[in-house]
Amino acid sequence: MQRENHLQNAALMARRQAAIPRGVGQSHPIFIARGENAEIWDVEDKRYIDFAGGIAVLNTGHCHPQIIAAVKAQMDAYTHTCFQVVAYEPYVELAERINARALGDFTKKTLFLTSGSEAVENAIKIARSYTGRSGVIAFTSGYHGRTMFTLGLTGKIVPYKTGFGPFPGEIFHAKFPDLLHGVSIEDSLASIEAIFKNDIEASRVAAIIIEPVQGEGGFNVAPFEFLRRLRTLCDLHGILLIADEVQTGAGRTGTWFAMEQSGVAPDLTALAKSMAGGFPISAVVGRADVMDAPAPGGLGGTYAGNPLACAAALAVLDIFEKDKLLERSQQLGQHLRTRLQSMATRYTVIADVRGLGAMVAIELCTGGDLHTPDAEVTKRLVGEAMQRGLILLSCGTYGNVLRILVPLTASDAIVDEGLDILEASLVEVCGTSP
Ligand SMILES: Cc1ncc(COP(=O)(O)O)c(C=O)c1O
Repeated sequence: MQRENHLQNAALMARRQAAIPRGVGQSHPIFIARGENAEIWDVEDKRYIDFAGGIAVLNTGHCHPQIIAAVKAQMDAYTHTCFQVVAYEPYVELAERINARALGDFTKKTLFLTSGSEAVENAIKIARSYTGRSGVIAFTSGYHGRTMFTLGLTGKIVPYKTGFGPFPGEIFHAKFPDLLHGVSIEDSLASIEAIFKNDIEASRVAAIIIEPVQGEGGFNVAPFEFLRRLRTLCDLHGILLIADEVQTGAGRTGTWFAMEQSGVAPDLTALAKSMAGGFPISAVVGRADVMDAPAPGGLGGTYAGNPLACAAALAVLDIFEKDKLLERSQQLGQHLRTRLQSMATRYTVIADVRGLGAMVAIELCTGGDLHTPDAEVTKRLVGEAMQRGLILLSCGTYGNVLRILVPLTASDAIVDEGLDILEASLVEVCGTSP
């Protein structure tokens, strides 16, 4: 089909709606023409600052020149063999470098896949194979993907699970500790004990899976003390601890893995999104003895650990080291928090500012009352910001959280310009607060 020269967003939306099922949602009714670091231009040449980063994928920004160069060089050599048929060195080097970064005083191994869901699925397969047990405990408000097992793990019905059940068995949900909304660490641990009493004995549980900071669930940070007690609980019962770092990983929270900050080493970690700057690859990294449980042929995938994506991921690691992006993540997070907290003093609708490193969000509630989540205002803010040239994303069980996932490579000037647009949108939607 011939490409049109002067594409219009509205015309493309009409074609999209006719050709693509409505189940594939879209936050903003625009189509990108090009992207550069933290900016994109749509097909009508309107410029936007990107605070979404393709949902946490672009910690190194759009089209980082070093990543593009690495992928182009890889394309000239070979693009696909299937690692299980003919292997290639970039896969091995990437595994070595991720093993070196992973937490824990034990030998590690890494497996590559294609999507975050696939990484989580494989972490569960490996945990079941190692323990010989079937049960898995996940948490309320958690998000782990769109495949059948990861949907089963996900703790949010609308829109992800609606109409797709039944989901695989032996999955149970404990309460995610959320001090702000009245779920204490003790409440959460008690809910796990209740699962052991009511649903499945601890000796049949293979793994507990947790996001150290919930992504889609609303940027809820798991208290470090909770993670430490979870580790103890797992050790007591021979249960494996899986960290889903698909959204928190690759430096977003100020350390390469968010779990690092709690001092807790999970047995297995799922990683994806920003690890390759926009190229599709995911990973499971963990204890070598656990990773080696499945027999040869039990793991893999046709495109899993594709050479182009491996080259991109190696470039991402180089960029983090060269440009000290972990320090940048901490400093950027501090800056975002300071400015958002200052906005919170002026706009009562902002009930909370939270996050870890540069994974930062605001929770919006009518009159600042945490019992009245305001999804409507959140939606209007996202729309208003877009009109003004800022791409924002909402999240949270009640759709009332605005999350910021701006590239770590964005300049201070761009970040501030984006925050100014957010504030102007607040004025427009909420009016100035007394
Ligand atoms: C924590 C977490 N786990 C898993 C996934 C699923 O990843 P993917 O969409 O690449 O399958 C996501 C995606 O948003 C995520 O945030």
